Amino acid sequence: MPIKAPRGTYDILPPDSRKWQAMEQSLKRVAHIYGYEEIRTPVFEHTELFERGVGEGTDIVSKEMYTFFDKSGRSLTLRPEMTASCARALIEHSAHTGLLPLKWFYCGPMFRYDRPQSGRYRQFHQFGAEVFGSSSPLVDAEVLMMVVRMLQSIGLTEYLLHINSVGCPSCRDSYRQELLDFINPIVNDLCPDCRQRSRANPLRVLDCKESRCHEAIKGHPRLLDHLCSGCARHYQRVRDTLTRQGICFEHDDRLVRGLDYYTNTAFEIHIPGIGAQSAVGGGGRYNGLVKAIEGPDLPGIGFALGLERLLLALEKQDSALPGKRDLEVFVAVMEAEYEDEAVTILQQLRDAGIVADKDYLERKARAQLKYADKSGAALVLFVGADEVKQGFVTVRNMINKEQTAILRTGLIPAITRLLHHNEEAQAQ
Ligand code: HAM
Repeated sequence: MPIKAPRGTYDILPPDSRKWQAMEQSLKRVAHIYGYEEIRTPVFEHTELFERGVGEGTDIVSKEMYTFFDKSGRSLTLRPEMTASCARALIEHSAHTGLLPLKWFYCGPMFRYDRPQSGRYRQFHQFGAEVFGSSSPLVDAEVLMMVVRMLQSIGLTEYLLHINSVGCPSCRDSYRQELLDFINPIVNDLCPDCRQRSRANPLRVLDCKESRCHEAIKGHPRLLDHLCSGCARHYQRVRDTLTRQGICFEHDDRLVRGLDYYTNTAFEIHIPGIGAQSAVGGGGRYNGLVKAIEGPDLPGIGFALGLERLLLALEKQDSALPGKRDLEVFVAVMEAEYEDEAVTILQQLRDAGIVADKDYLERKARAQLKYADKSGAALVLFVGADEVKQGFVTVRNMINKEQTAILRTGLIPAITRLLHHNEEAQAQ
């Protein structure tokens, strides 16, 4: 049996890798505009970091982590998310002693052991951002505005932004009791998972996807009504700012998020009609996280977008991220003795920043032309006996099929002009 990629993982080959590059570049560009800088951390961390950061009672930590012991018996875990790693790195490097707020973005693979299905993988990719050191509600609004700009930058138009406030631990304590009083009499109407959740973390019952739970909890008490005055003011300011800036959002009483570190603003981005895994991103404020892993008492907020789900959403929307190779020039060699000249020309083109290639399978001239056409080359240069002897190159414009002779000495400026000309013609 041939060896295959493990279940829940997959390869990204060309031409698909081009879509990934284009998407990542757009997201990075927006992050840069908003003042974020990249952070890279190890893909595995001490297991304890996620147990304490994300929370032992969460699905991620209790069921989904890839945990293993290394050869010295240390318990390590493939990162299921990056927020805890960012907080750990901040503490380890005392990054908070520099300019605040810190604004970091990241992009890379995460690992969760869950049942694979469309939009759910065991190795998946997130693009995320974190801000440390400010508890201003304007930062919450700015983060949300950046998320929206990111979705726009990749051409995603059909999405819903859901927001809620999960308050601070003291708001949640009073709410938790009232919610339990509501759930206890109806607990047998809930799904088995929620029956268990209702004991450990009743708030999670609110965002269960099962329709029977949906029905059963209709009319549940609202966390919004239990916010302390500080948390209520904070949330109001976030919503007012978003409204003023023209950002469409929906307040969602049932949004509580599945990670323990959240406080105040929490949000998710959903794609309608994409199936069970409709959340393309989520995030929120986490004012207690850095302290919980023995760092300073530093507030934070951030989000992560799931890149696989963004691509699925774009496909559903029929939006085209670039899928074709952007070959500009193909150098065709007429006879083997002119290969060296072709290599020299190819190198000159590449030195000038032109995307160029040649044949390496000793194809006949006609087959080279066919190959160039299939590769989407804009221009084909012919290098043959006449050309080499008389110091010129024959250029075939693959867009309008015109053929011209260009002096070898002025090759690069002439090719640049032709490419430019083609681009303009195609843009019209
Ligand atoms: P999360 O909601 O667990 O939040 O994940 C964020 C996004 O990652 C999800 O909305 C989804 O698009 C994607 N995702 C999660 N699990 C999978 C999976 N198994 N397969 C494919 N995609 C998946 C976090 O991870 C938080 N760290 C976000 C955050 C940053 N909060 C504050 N800062």
